[in-house]
Amino acid sequence: MQRIGILTGGGDAPGLNAVIRGVVLCGLNESGLEVVGIRDGFGGFAEGDAGLMPLGRRDVRGLLWRGGSVLGCNNRYRGDSAFFCERMAEIGLDGLVVAGGDGSLTMAQDMVNAGGTVVGVPKTIDNDVEGTDQTFGFDTAVTLVADACSRLIDTAESHHRVMVVEVMGRHAGHIALHGGLAGSADIVLIPEIPFSIDSIVRVIGRRGQMHRTYTLIVIAEGARPADGKIELDDDDTAAAGREILGGIGRQLGLRLRERVNHEVRSLSLSHLQRGGMPTVFDRVLATRMGVAACRALAAGKNSVFTTYRNSKVLLAPLEDAAGKTRNVNPAGRSVSSARAVGIAFGDE
Ligand code: F6P
Repeated sequence: MQRIGILTGGGDAPGLNAVIRGVVLCGLNESGLEVVGIRDGFGGFAEGDAGLMPLGRRDVRGLLWRGGSVLGCNNRYRGDSAFFCERMAEIGLDGLVVAGGDGSLTMAQDMVNAGGTVVGVPKTIDNDVEGTDQTFGFDTAVTLVADACSRLIDTAESHHRVMVVEVMGRHAGHIALHGGLAGSADIVLIPEIPFSIDSIVRVIGRRGQMHRTYTLIVIAEGARPADGKIELDDDDTAAAGREILGGIGRQLGLRLRERVNHEVRSLSLSHLQRGGMPTVFDRVLATRMGVAACRALAAGKNSVFTTYRNSKVLLAPLEDAAGKTRNVNPAGRSVSSARAVGIAFGDE
C-alpha cells in the first residue's frame, strides 16, 4: 500500500477536516503513505486530474478546528461502483477512505463488491448511522441546538410565549432529543414517537396551572403528527431532486396558535447546525477515526468502517453500516430519562 485516496461524501459535518488531517498525518508519520484528496465526493471522482488534491503536511495545517470540508462535499453520484474502481486504478490508488453517511457508505460497499479496497468513516450530524454509538458532527450540532434553546427560553419566558424550534436529523430524532435534554426543552417531538396536538395543548395548559407561562418545544424535521404525514419542503425537494425535509415546526406553530392563549413563534435552525468549529469531542473522535482508517488500509484491511463503541474507536464490517440507519429507541434510556425530568413527547 503506497498511495491512498480520501473523499468526503454527502453533506458536510463538523470534524470532516479533522478526519482528513488524521489520515494524512498518520499516513506520513507512521506508514509512509501518500494521500490524495478527491474533490467534491463521488461527484468529483469523475473529474480527471482536476478533481484531485495531493495532500501533504502543509495542506492539513490548521484543519483540526475548521468546519466544512476542504475537499468539498457532494450528494450526487456521477458513475457507478465499477466506474469508481476503474478511476481508482487510473489514479493509482491502492485504497480509498470514504467519509460519509449512509448513501456514501453504501457506495463504498458497492465498490468493495466491485473489487475496490475501501474503508469507511461514518459521518453525519444526524447520528443515525447503524453500528456506531456516535458520529462526529453530532456533538457540535447538539451544542448549537442547546445554546439556541437557552437563548429562546429568555425571550419565551419574558414574553410568555410558546416557542417552537425545528432541528435537523432526517428521519431520526437524536438531535432533537439530545438538544432538548441539554437545552431544557419542555416538549420534544421526534419521528420515532408520533405526536398529537391535543396532547401538546394539554401540556401547555398544565404548565400554565403551575405558573409556567412559557413553553419551549424542540421538534425534529422528520417528526409527524399521529394523524398526519412528514412535511417536505416542496420547492427545495423539486430543485434538489431528492427528499428535503422542513416546515413541520412552522406547521405546528400555526396549529397551536388556534388552540392556546399564548403568542406562538416558530423558527428553524436549519444549516446553522451543520457549520462552525467542531467541539473538542468531535475533533478528538474525528482525528481518532481518521487515524484508524489510515491504519486499517496500511494493514491491508478492506471492507471495514471505523466505529465508536464504549468509548473505543474500532473497526467493524462495512456491511453493518452501509444503507442502514439507527433511530432513537422510544423505550430506551435517553427517552426514559427525558420523561423522568418532565419532558413531554406529545404522546401522553
Ligand atoms: O444528513 C444531514 C442533514 O443535515 C439532515 O439533517 C438534513 O435533512 C439534510 O442533511 C439536509 O441536506 P441539504 O443540506 O442537502 O439540504
